[in-house]
Amino acid sequence: MPRSPITQTNHIEVTLKRNSEYGQLHMPEEGVSALMPNAGEALDCYLSIAQAIAGPTDYELVLENFANRLRALIAHDHLDIVLLHPAGMQICYEARMHTSWSHTQSPARPTEESPIRDVLRGDTPYILTDDAWTDPRFHFEGSDSKPLFDANLHSRIVVPLRVQGALIGSLAISSHKTDFYNEELVVLAQGAADLISAYLFALERGKEAKESAVAELEATGREQALRLGALRLTEGMERERQRLGMDLHDQTLADLARIRRRMSRIDGGSVAAQKEINALQDELDHCLDEVRGIVEAMKPGVLQMFGFSEAVEAHLQRCQKHMRREIKMRVQDQTDGQMDTLQDTVRTAMFRIVQEAVNNALKHTACDCIDVRISQDGPNMFVRVDDNGTGISEADLQSKSGISNIKTRADLISATVRFERLADPKGTRVEISVPQTAGQAAGEPLAL
Ligand SMILES: Nc1ncnc2c1ncn2[C@@H]1O[C@H](COP(=O)(O)OP(=O)(O)OP(=O)(O)O)[C@@H](O)[C@H]1O
Ligand SMILES: [Mg+2]
Repeated sequence: MPRSPITQTNHIEVTLKRNSEYGQLHMPEEGVSALMPNAGEALDCYLSIAQAIAGPTDYELVLENFANRLRALIAHDHLDIVLLHPAGMQICYEARMHTSWSHTQSPARPTEESPIRDVLRGDTPYILTDDAWTDPRFHFEGSDSKPLFDANLHSRIVVPLRVQGALIGSLAISSHKTDFYNEELVVLAQGAADLISAYLFALERGKEAKESAVAELEATGREQALRLGALRLTEGMERERQRLGMDLHDQTLADLARIRRRMSRIDGGSVAAQKEINALQDELDHCLDEVRGIVEAMKPGVLQMFGFSEAVEAHLQRCQKHMRREIKMRVQDQTDGQMDTLQDTVRTAMFRIVQEAVNNALKHTACDCIDVRISQDGPNMFVRVDDNGTGISEADLQSKSGISNIKTRADLISATVRFERLADPKGTRVEISVPQTAGQAAGEPLAL
């Protein structure tokens, strides 16, 4: 039968005073009920509990210390603490004896299966039983009550653990004896539960904060590792690309040029054959131009030898040569070559981004002016590519082609890229900013 709620401290004081006649504490004899401490003893015991639990951060140790000190107040053979976890689960810690309730055997169990679920659900203010073996409150369909028999637990006091009124779990004190505990001891048990609940709550929050800090650190570390890995991969790809460029230049381009020269010396004989040869020569010239263009874009060349702004200038000039219309192009470096202090992979990625932005401006808009500006603001470098074309649209930004490559390259080097549709004068701005220290892990340059 549930009695009135026992959570108030003044209620405990009143009860303690009433029990002060019980005299000195000692362990009960066989077949005798648990002895009642007097108020002074109870207070001493609470103080010693408070001292013993403050310090350790391991639940097992906290509970062991708690049980040792509580023994002077309430004799027991088994003690457990259940902590409620979200989603109807709970975790049980035991002292003195360990059963299958222990968190080490079953990390989390459904609260609905707990033989003390009435307290854990807040349906009853506490449970006091003379014999848990026969008390129907502990035995219902699906109840995990087997440890009661395995550990020979008969008399029990179960009180809630509360923090600022909210239920966070329960404290259960058990004895091998029947008819061992009484209402007064429930009050003392509740006092001890109030003491430990605040501490357990703080411990749990601390543990959660630590876990989330560790998880955050791990996530940041993983992201950093992935970034470095991808950067190295990009760097490897860039090196391979340059090697291919040089091979193409030294081998394929040279071969094609030789074939072209030999073809020019062939006399077709008939007019028709000569016409065919001329057509083949035209096709070959076209191929040569294509391969030259590819080689230019691939080999290390100007970027490595003369630096970022020269390389952008060279790219603009190369583009201009192939354009049928007149286009004003200029590069302004307001940083006096600071781009060349960037880590090599980062600088190359920046160059490839600018290349694609310029190519897009020429390919997709009828612009007649492209402006590239390099600047610095504090620790960040900025490169801006402006054109006066038709202007990029929101939908264009979802492209899986060059624009997606730009975004990926920027991500890899911790750069941010911004696409803007300009209104007056009309056009498109692509602005990339990158920290000057990008690509350096923990202050060390990448091992490339
Ligand atoms: N500077 C620009 N001005 C106007 N529209 C642009 C500009 N840059 C890109 N776009 C638009 O964005 C679209 C997507 O560009 P993106 O570079 O992803 O692909 P692409 O240039 O068509 O193909 P690829 O880059 O593979 O050659 C383009 O088709 C074009 O419509
Ligand atoms: Mg493109």
